[in-house]
Amino acid sequence: MSPEPQPPPTPSGLPVLGHTLDFARDPFEFTYRAIDECGDIYRLVLPTTEVCVMAHPDYFRQVLVTDVDAFGKTDDYRKAFGSGVLATDGAQWRRQRKILQPLFHQDRITGYGDYMVAATQRRLDTWTPGEVQDVESEMQDLTLEILFATLFGRELTPGEGADLRTASEGLNKWFAPTSWLLPNWVSTPSRRAFFDSKERLRTEIRRLLTEHDPDKRADENSQPDGLQRETLLSKLDEARHSSGQNHLSTEEVEGQLLTMLFAGYETTAAALGFAWYSLAMNPDIQQAFHEELDTVLGGDPPTHEDIDDLELTCRIVTETLRMYPPVHTIPRQTTRAVEVDGYQIPADREIHLAVLSVHRDERFYENPDSFRPNRWISEFENELPDYTFMPFGGGRRTCIGRDFARLEATLVLATIGQHWSFEWAGEETTVSIEPEITTKTKNGLPMRLKAR
Ligand code: HEM
Repeated sequence: MSPEPQPPPTPSGLPVLGHTLDFARDPFEFTYRAIDECGDIYRLVLPTTEVCVMAHPDYFRQVLVTDVDAFGKTDDYRKAFGSGVLATDGAQWRRQRKILQPLFHQDRITGYGDYMVAATQRRLDTWTPGEVQDVESEMQDLTLEILFATLFGRELTPGEGADLRTASEGLNKWFAPTSWLLPNWVSTPSRRAFFDSKERLRTEIRRLLTEHDPDKRADENSQPDGLQRETLLSKLDEARHSSGQNHLSTEEVEGQLLTMLFAGYETTAAALGFAWYSLAMNPDIQQAFHEELDTVLGGDPPTHEDIDDLELTCRIVTETLRMYPPVHTIPRQTTRAVEVDGYQIPADREIHLAVLSVHRDERFYENPDSFRPNRWISEFENELPDYTFMPFGGGRRTCIGRDFARLEATLVLATIGQHWSFEWAGEETTVSIEPEITTKTKNGLPMRLKAR
């Protein structure tokens, strides 16, 4: 008779509070230690719940592909994003994804390239040589501006970006490890910030929908220069007024807009910020990057047609997504009891796929903690086992904005790198990172700007 399946092991921790304090203090460090002690699957014990953490590509495959129906989206996602495509499951998700997918086709995305470059150039005009800028927040402002113009067809008014960013950061607060110390019904400042932010973002989204009136917009000529009049916003509004399979309720439309607003700018901004940081820390690579830009572009602004020739720039984006995956953990919740590698996991158990740990695992990446864009030659990529590089998730729930994000990251890097170089100006020698839903820094990314 084969032995009864056991629950996954759990790392040593304090009784009563479980692992909460250690985890809240430094979640990434805790994860490394726990994997060292227990292996690639373990239980994180918190006062009110348990989380099963998995850190191996074979487990990623089971959760996201082969056993996908046993692993649904979490209650927390639904709380944050309502009925947005990031949070829904089953038939509702399938219908929503089918409606949204055409809006992210390659042809449509490349049409945004020129706007991405122009918006970046406008921001560069505000920079002064020698000054120190927080590159993390600069990249957030820029990507938010691009998102609003390309997907919602609206230019942000001065000050609006900062206000929206604060609200969007508030949504992140629900997912901060320190919030896990207390059960969900306890009101804490960060939870109040979460609910206030959600209200603020909903108000903005309702305003976007109310403002949206295609005939009026044509009269006012209010479309940002060079962009199509049909946007994600206009298509969603159309879905609200249509019937049958293409119909989305008002609540669903609001959920999609909230989701795009949250998922669509901070992630790419994080990739850009960490790319600048990595280049500042590796002057040889920064120099080779500048040389590539000079050779390929010869002083002209980049376009989407240059992307294939900007090989090193693309590798810098890929290597940054490996070392600093903006979504460091992919959460799920079991829909039924399920067995993983001989371990028993009950129904309704939260699962964390530890993307960052796999991206820094030396079984898959030589010298995983060093920034080496040139590891990404085709032989290496072809031999890399499946599900070891997961910045955009995997299986049917793979990021819908992947092509948008890659195009944006590459064009923004190239446009800025043509004119500026960066020098790390932080007080500490290296950056400290911490997890919310997205990978953030503790104290921003202060950089001294040098004109090239
Ligand atoms: C570097 C930038 C980005 C990264 C690293 C990233 C990462 C991810 C990841 C890991 C997922 C899977 C989440 C899961 O399975 O639970 C995801 C899903 C998603 N992302 Fe992105 N993302 C990025 C940019 C974008 C952009 C630019 C947009 C939209 C404009 C976007 C919209 C979405 C949406 C709507 C989903 C849900 C897809 C579904 O469940 O069907 N993302 N993203």
